[in-house]
Amino acid sequence: MTAMSRSAVLLCLLVAAAVGSAAHFDGAAAATDNGKKVSQGQGGLHHYFYLDSCAQLETIVRSTVESALQQDVRLTAGLLRIFFHDCFPQGCDASVLLDNGERQFAPNLGLQQAALQLIETIRSKVHAACGPTVSCADITVLATRDAVNLAGGPTFTVNLGRKDSLAPASQNDVFSLPPPSFTADQLLKSFSDKGLDNFDLVALSGAHTVGRARCSAFGNPSTPPKDDLGQCLAGICTGGGGDPNRLRDLDFLTPELFDNMYFTALTLNKGIMLNSDQVLATHPSTNWLVKGFADNHWWFFQQFATSMVKMSEMKGPQGNVGEIRRNCFKPNSALNISADHGLLAASA
Ligand code: HEM
Repeated sequence: MTAMSRSAVLLCLLVAAAVGSAAHFDGAAAATDNGKKVSQGQGGLHHYFYLDSCAQLETIVRSTVESALQQDVRLTAGLLRIFFHDCFPQGCDASVLLDNGERQFAPNLGLQQAALQLIETIRSKVHAACGPTVSCADITVLATRDAVNLAGGPTFTVNLGRKDSLAPASQNDVFSLPPPSFTADQLLKSFSDKGLDNFDLVALSGAHTVGRARCSAFGNPSTPPKDDLGQCLAGICTGGGGDPNRLRDLDFLTPELFDNMYFTALTLNKGIMLNSDQVLATHPSTNWLVKGFADNHWWFFQQFATSMVKMSEMKGPQGNVGEIRRNCFKPNSALNISADHGLLAASA
């Protein structure tokens, strides 16, 4: 959080406390505990994929993410959003990382450049240690998993062995990413089209426990905030000349921690969350999950881990086909690396 936005939120909380309308914040400390370890099934990839070719992989990824987070706590949010925007259109294949491709389209504007660069930095360390054996897609999944845990969230086992795409996803596939204006029915449909259910939708939306959105993403709330806290938080966007690119925290209670306070914030119904978040608190297929995750952070952590693994194993139309990129931002063909070197890889 910038100093300005931090002080704006603190001011809001003080104002609200002063008039007796503040939320209960006592769950925040408990929610910082790390979650339990969750083991998952195989699905064509496997946990020990790099055991022989790069045994140091997980150590290199975790230590690099840890030092990067010590410099910039916002990288957890950056990695999580990149992970979602990579996996949802056509499976996790690092296609969103390619320059001059998917990132020019509206849904991908605002992906954090520093988080994209962190993935490439990890790739170069891993390839320096092991040779070009590990894909950018697997590094994205591992780095996101570790950043969540380092920010206070659960840890879990992920299966590996993804290939990097040879080309970006199509514009159509990129626009399958849901916009913040969607209703709950539209969100449920958009997720079910990808094989994800209401548990996945609500749990994965819990990624908004960290990170920020541009003021333009919040739109005009269907129910304008009535109390002091809501009005003060909404004022962060309407103040300062109403700049649509100004950033506001998604979870105004504990914006830098991966915890379940996003769900608590949703149940407060202040009319200041993203529309696509707020609608989850009222639709009959999702409201009981929002309440359940707000009441029980262990349940949220366990379901989040399960849903992250599910999303990480979503398949694109062509299956797991591609290469191990030598630079996450470019296909090997642009680097003059050919199949003769035995690195152009394809599997079913
Ligand atoms: C359910 C449908 C979803 C919608 C409509 C949605 C929409 C958005 C929007 C509009 C933003 C702000 C973008 C900007 O202003 O630049 C955002 C930020 C973010 N989203 Fe989502 N999102 C959804 C699901 C997810 C999922 C499944 C994840 C990850 C698992 C995720 C992770 C994030 C994160 C971490 C940020 C903050 C990024 C940052 O601070 O750099 N979102 N989302």
